[in-house]
Amino acid sequence: MEEYSISPDGEKFLLPGPDDYAEEYRRLEHVVQEQREMGREIVVVMGVGFVGAVMAAVVADSEDENNHPMKFVIGMQRPSTRSYWKISLLNRGLPPVQAEDPEVAPMIHRCVNEKKTLTATFTYDALKFADVVVVDVQCDYLKESLGDVKNGWTEMDALEKSLEIIAEHISPDTLVLIETTVAPGTTEQVAYPIMRKVFQKRGIKSSPLLSHSFERVMPGKNYVASIRDFWRVCSGINEEATNRVVKFLEEVINTKEYPLTVLSRPIESETTKIVENSYRATILAFLDEWSLFAERNGVDLIKVLNAIKVRPTHSNIIFPGPGIGGYCLPKDGGLGVWAYRHIHGFEDNIFKITPMAIDINDTRSLHVAQLTRDALRNMSRPLAAAEILILGASYREDVGDTRYSGSELILRRLTEMGAELRVHDPYVKHWWEIEKQDEYPSSTHSLKRFFRNQDKLSDLHVHQDLNQALNGTDAVIFAVRHHHYLDLDPDLVVEKAGGSLAVIDCFGILDDAKIKRYFELGCEVKGLGRGHVKRIKDQVRSEREEMLMASGAGKDTDGVAKKV
Ligand SMILES: NC(=O)c1ccc[n+]([C@@H]2O[C@H](COP(=O)([O-])OP(=O)(O)OC[C@H]3O[C@@H](n4cnc5c(N)ncnc54)[C@H](O)[C@@H]3O)[C@@H](O)[C@H]2O)c1
Repeated sequence: MEEYSISPDGEKFLLPGPDDYAEEYRRLEHVVQEQREMGREIVVVMGVGFVGAVMAAVVADSEDENNHPMKFVIGMQRPSTRSYWKISLLNRGLPPVQAEDPEVAPMIHRCVNEKKTLTATFTYDALKFADVVVVDVQCDYLKESLGDVKNGWTEMDALEKSLEIIAEHISPDTLVLIETTVAPGTTEQVAYPIMRKVFQKRGIKSSPLLSHSFERVMPGKNYVASIRDFWRVCSGINEEATNRVVKFLEEVINTKEYPLTVLSRPIESETTKIVENSYRATILAFLDEWSLFAERNGVDLIKVLNAIKVRPTHSNIIFPGPGIGGYCLPKDGGLGVWAYRHIHGFEDNIFKITPMAIDINDTRSLHVAQLTRDALRNMSRPLAAAEILILGASYREDVGDTRYSGSELILRRLTEMGAELRVHDPYVKHWWEIEKQDEYPSSTHSLKRFFRNQDKLSDLHVHQDLNQALNGTDAVIFAVRHHHYLDLDPDLVVEKAGGSLAVIDCFGILDDAKIKRYFELGCEVKGLGRGHVKRIKDQVRSEREEMLMASGAGKDTDGVAKKV
């Protein structure tokens, strides 16, 4: 049976059949020979997802001091129905990831079509040509309950399988660089034994040249720079692997301005990644309780944090949005907690803060459903059957990555409570976690399973036209700080909605003037950590009463038709 992989734009790509492999191998063999004649090293990037696609382009775009490209990159991707389209897009010079960074698309186009230093393939045989293999496949942490990270496990089948495949194909002196975020201990205690066993079967006496250097990539405005122009930490399994990984990174990223930190063992580099992301998860999580404190005591947490940030020692304090999503922060601490027992064999329970932080972050967005319910109730509208628009599906501003976004839980909880949901996101054409909720992120681990009445969400399509999305809504939830939402004029929002509505600000998007205007227009406003809205509401009410008294009439002053 013919199988297809469908790109987010809806284009169908026929998956390769058995005959296509021999032809693809010949194509690669030919191009690799040409590239070697030009003196270029062959780098295979395994997994061209959010990280691998742009890392592949950064390596392919790198040049020596005479501006000659020294690397030829083969991005390699499993030909699965879910991911095969990425190969076809890359080979046309198009990015398989959507990003706000204007460098991404031209860089991929340049490397594929002009410099001809980048190609993509589906065949593992590409590994036979590699001088360096960069591993960018996923390593998941799967949670079994909502808000309890300890009840979960590291799903590293794809990674373990990839390492086995690499060992089956590479030559003994190929450097293998694991960039995947892994449970600390993985390179030496999981990857090394897997690869060594395969090497022994192949009669190879030497040890695999394994190294680890995690990515600090931030998909968004500085996507490319966050890979190329940023500090890296690395380490190798032995001296040769360490020297090779240092040499490679010095050749492909800007280590002159952003010096490398070389650590003694891969577990140190692996732990660095987990600790830095657990730290970030923790400083976000501890503000959840202060966010509730602020809401209940007339305090605007945004202003409090801005006041604190002035102090240089506290300048990295950040307002937590509706849940801390993305692929990394919700899982990385879990990888560490899991490794302590399952890789290193300890029985005691030393981890308190890291899992608590993740659990708080994982459930923070549920509070948004309560705020929406209360705002609608204040307008005498029942939440059940209300039309609610969520602005933003992705996990952070100006990217199209929806993995573990706070918006997903808001959507699911409000749907469970009976509301009718719509979503707008300029970066997300398909929200796969929702549209294909029985398959994403996997057939057993959709967040769907923690909520009732979710089936109808499979028909949800993400609006690209904001005016259309607003039409007839009872409530609008500002969930993500996409730049499109930052300056929305309250008058326009109310006009497009067709009357007053409930406005929920999850990310400090509304300034006081806008909040005031929404109240003047008959709206109800609530926000995460924004307790001062009540004061603004009272102010508007008393101003209105004064005006009514002065005019001696009971006329509505704003002239906007009220739905209620
Ligand atoms: N996304 C981020 O912002 C970010 C930031 C820092 C670190 N990381 C880490 O980087 C790693 C990769 O993350 P990502 O966001 O790119 O994930 P991703 O899911 O977008 O990409 C992984 C890719 O690997 C492919 N793959 C899986 N098995 C394969 C195999 N056997 N052969 C070839 N390809 C295979 C998948 O099909 C997918 O395209 C993860 O460990 C992640 O934690 C991600």
